[in-house]
Amino acid sequence: MELIRVNHLKKDYQQGVLKIPAVRGVSFSIQKGDFAALVGPSGSGKTTLLNMIGVLDTPDEGEIFLEDQCLNTLKEKEKTRFRLYHIGFVFQFYNLIPVFTALENVEYTLMLQGMDKKTRQEKALSLMSEMRIEELKNRFPRELSGGQQQRVAVVRALVSNPKVVLADEPTANLDSESADILLDIMQEMAVKKETTFLFSTHDKRVMDRAKRLIRLRDGRLEEN
Ligand SMILES: Nc1ncnc2c1ncn2[C@@H]1O[C@H](COP(=O)(O)OP(=O)(O)O)[C@@H](O)[C@H]1O
Ligand SMILES: [Mg+2]
Repeated sequence: MELIRVNHLKKDYQQGVLKIPAVRGVSFSIQKGDFAALVGPSGSGKTTLLNMIGVLDTPDEGEIFLEDQCLNTLKEKEKTRFRLYHIGFVFQFYNLIPVFTALENVEYTLMLQGMDKKTRQEKALSLMSEMRIEELKNRFPRELSGGQQQRVAVVRALVSNPKVVLADEPTANLDSESADILLDIMQEMAVKKETTFLFSTHDKRVMDRAKRLIRLRDGRLEEN
């Protein structure tokens, strides 16, 4: 089943008088349950593309569909709501909230969704335990290694059962062992929870694990 459809997507950045083309007419689709990677060298448009799919950024041209919902036409308020309920994000630099413990970071999305404290704590702890990081629950981000922070970030992205998890170079700052553990967890969750993953990477370790590669160069798809 097709989950995401991207049609002729284009995006330029304006830098002074210069127009910098970042994504130049990209079309592809992502199936439900995919474990897919956008790959390409630095500057090829991976982040721009992921940000548009995650409705953090707006395309200049083209369309994005998630199931039957066209994401381009959402109003700002609807975008925020859409992200909150349907999309999980994992960033290169973890982006945990520094004044929250690991558990509070995981709970945060559920809190924004209006879930009561008891239910959201149960949910958060249960997934943290499933992902073998329950013992980190009371630590603050600064007390965690990069690999541990990223595992917390993956749990945070998954806790609300989003339709898709978008992960922008999730292993770029991790050593090999931490990257392996993270990928194990993501793969395990993809199978168990039938979560769809779309990540960007230029990390060979991630490419080897991806079930599908979508290659970008200079803002365009490369023929496989
Ligand atoms: N905020 C921005 N302002 C101007 N140019 C940008 C901005 N973000 C990205 N770009 C440019 O857009 C192109 C694609 O960048 P990006 O999507 O970050 O690629 P990747 O994630 O593959 O490294 C690059 O040429 C980059 O320099
Ligand atoms: Mg990038």
